[in-house]
Amino acid sequence: MDKSVIIKVEHVSMRFNLSSEKFDSLKEYIIKSIKGQVSIEEFWALKDVSFEVKKGDSVGLIGLNGSGKSTMLKTIAGVLKPTKGCVKVYGSIAPLIELGAGFDMDLTARENVFLNGALLGYTRKEMEGYYNDIVNFSELNSFMDVPVKNFSSGMVSRLAFAIATIGIPDILIVDEVLSVGDFQFQAKCERRIQNMIDKGTTILFVSHSIDQVEKICNKIIWLEHGQMKCFGEAKEICERYKRS
Ligand SMILES: Nc1ncnc2c1ncn2[C@@H]1O[C@H](COP(=O)(O)OP(=O)(O)OP(=O)(O)O)[C@@H](O)[C@H]1O
Ligand SMILES: [Mg+2]
Repeated sequence: MDKSVIIKVEHVSMRFNLSSEKFDSLKEYIIKSIKGQVSIEEFWALKDVSFEVKKGDSVGLIGLNGSGKSTMLKTIAGVLKPTKGCVKVYGSIAPLIELGAGFDMDLTARENVFLNGALLGYTRKEMEGYYNDIVNFSELNSFMDVPVKNFSSGMVSRLAFAIATIGIPDILIVDEVLSVGDFQFQAKCERRIQNMIDKGTTILFVSHSIDQVEKICNKIIWLEHGQMKCFGEAKEICERYKRS
């Protein structure tokens, strides 16, 4: 049986403008830019990338630092609009990209749970239903009334992961967020992701631990300098990657 396509990436290219100069003041920048003396360098972080993801697949994106993995995930999550090409997504997305980015650091953990829930589109009543699970999963029982600014980065990640993985999204995007927690919490997060895969969630996964990628993913996209080097079965491509 042919599984249905849930993500379609068509000829996506992404350009960033890099200014190679440093300016001492805004005034200097404005004067130079009016005189046309500011040189902007173009940089293509993604170059004509196309692929399709089928429902229920767990796809790992691998490649060296700067190869375009996070940029690719951000265009799929809708955080970045591609310069060329288009991305079509047929389902809901839970993005785990910059954990805690949606937090208000002055608010308590409890307040942030409800704030983030609202950002994710849940009602207060729904969040009340999820609240105990979030507290239990993050193991932050005695810290729920503490402002998040007093949390360690690991604690912030725990809370953000617990919130972002409530419910069963159609697509879960994970960009290197598992490396922040301690090993016990990592194992717990892996189990939760596996549980979501078993329930039919499609996963896009980035981790610098190739072992973790092999454990979680059945398909791999290998990026090199913003281009797709290959897309195929996880076992085979991970072996090639490890030998490269
Ligand atoms: N907002 C931006 N402005 C300018 N350049 C950017 C921006 N975001 C990313 N880049 C550049 O695009 C390239 C790809 O970055 P990206 O973060 O997608 O790489 P990555 O594969 O996720 O790397 P890493 O393994 O280090 O996380 C890098 O060279 C980076 O400097
Ligand atoms: Mg990255």
